[in-house]
Amino acid sequence: MTTRMRRRARSLPAVLAAAAALAVACGSSSGGSSPPAPPSEVTFAPAPLAPGGKPVPFLFGSSTAGFQVESGDTHTDWAHWVATSGKIAGGDSPDVGGPDALAHIDDDVAALVASGQNAYRFSIEWGRVYPTLSAFMNDTPDPAGVAVYTTLLQKLSAAHIKPLVTLVHFSLPDWLSDGTIATQDQPQGWERPETAGYFAEWCTRAARRWGNLVDWWVTINEPLPYVLGGYIQGSFPPGLVGGVTSAGMARAFAVVKAEARAHAKCFDALHAADTVDADGDGRAAWVSVAKHQRTFHPRDASSADDAAAAAHLEYLWNRWFLNAIVEGRWDDKLDGDTVPSDVTSDPTLAHRADYVGVNYYSDTLVSASVGLKLPAPINAAVFQANMPTPRPKTDFGWDIYPEGLGTVLDEAAGYGLPLVVTENGIADAADANRARFVLEHLYQLGWAIARGDRVVGYFHWALVDNFEWASGFCPHFGLYAYDKTTGARTAKKSVATYTSIIRSGRVTTAEIDAAPAYAAPRECP
Ligand code: FCB
Repeated sequence: MTTRMRRRARSLPAVLAAAAALAVACGSSSGGSSPPAPPSEVTFAPAPLAPGGKPVPFLFGSSTAGFQVESGDTHTDWAHWVATSGKIAGGDSPDVGGPDALAHIDDDVAALVASGQNAYRFSIEWGRVYPTLSAFMNDTPDPAGVAVYTTLLQKLSAAHIKPLVTLVHFSLPDWLSDGTIATQDQPQGWERPETAGYFAEWCTRAARRWGNLVDWWVTINEPLPYVLGGYIQGSFPPGLVGGVTSAGMARAFAVVKAEARAHAKCFDALHAADTVDADGDGRAAWVSVAKHQRTFHPRDASSADDAAAAAHLEYLWNRWFLNAIVEGRWDDKLDGDTVPSDVTSDPTLAHRADYVGVNYYSDTLVSASVGLKLPAPINAAVFQANMPTPRPKTDFGWDIYPEGLGTVLDEAAGYGLPLVVTENGIADAADANRARFVLEHLYQLGWAIARGDRVVGYFHWALVDNFEWASGFCPHFGLYAYDKTTGARTAKKSVATYTSIIRSGRVTTAEIDAAPAYAAPRECP
């Protein structure tokens, strides 16, 4: 079977499977043939990253992003956005009472070591290393900015913790993306014609400087949520509420296309400049995006229109971007495979992923008739929080839906590349549900491996409580809490569960059965 056929074989029935899964979640059953019995135990054994390679240990880590955990990330669009009144819940700022990660490198590395993790995903902030356009053009980086990331990488290396470095995690330098609503009608960030070239240069310099310590790279974190927040909902800079007009939607999707092209240039730049195999796995650079993948269900399981809308959104959200950067399939009209002549083959995009980074959080309901219908190419109303399902919810109102991780991994496995879960986590201020959440999600991940998906790592979001973008500090995603005065990190109770999975290399259904049932969430705006 070719890659494309495998992907289709798995993805075409996805909506029907999704509808059936929702029916099961809602307590009904279609009475068809029974699915394979769930295994009583799943394992995370060392495995080769590429066919024929030597087996390497499964990556068990956690993630952060610079703007969410650092203080003084001043030269970014997000710093301006945070300073704009009314944009962040509670008026929170990462500079006031945040985890201040760059001042607590030793604490974070100690937390990773104490909990048995062997990998850490974080971002190197472009605007910290190059605070001004002239510093970037003259290649005169800020010495303190360079030194602090070098220190972090050296300390991780000394502790035998593999870094996975993100080169843009939402925040862009403020000399590329203004971040104040006064200029939002002018092209920002990825929209500017010069940005892709500058980004490739940033990737080259990062690889030359740190490639001896880094093998795993993410070019851009979540290209689609970036656009959803910044160009459709208006909750991220540049703050456009474009989802209600066709012109706004067209602008949003033009940004997604620009990100795909910028990613490909960065991929080439990283491979050209990172020639050192830091961890001895036989390859100097593993490059991808961290792609936010979701499951999609029709809001009304009996509605053919809702099912069609869910299928189309699933294509746009989960596959459009990956089709472009893995297979070079450029669907310029974003209308799916229904008009094959629209889809061209672009060799400048094809094969620009060495693995697929999967960020998975939850499920989505899609309606063709209920709620605010977004214009083309979406043409539907979309629900992601406080959905009318019987599933337990997080503090953010997101459904806890571990089976969805299996679904998105099966789908991504169709691209024929290794998979890394680059984010998965829960807003849980009480830490009442995180242990069960981790068990259930790692069980689904292990089951996906048993089905043949080549999943080689899992990064829990997040290492430490942090600044959750427009929602400020209310959502608590951290495995570790921190003291707002001293910055000292404290392991939450759930860390013991993650550590015991890491140490045993397995999850059993008995452990899941023994975990406390999900408790009611606390609410976050
Ligand atoms: C993801 C983001 C990450 C964090 C988590 C909760 O979409 O990549 O920065 O905000 O959600």
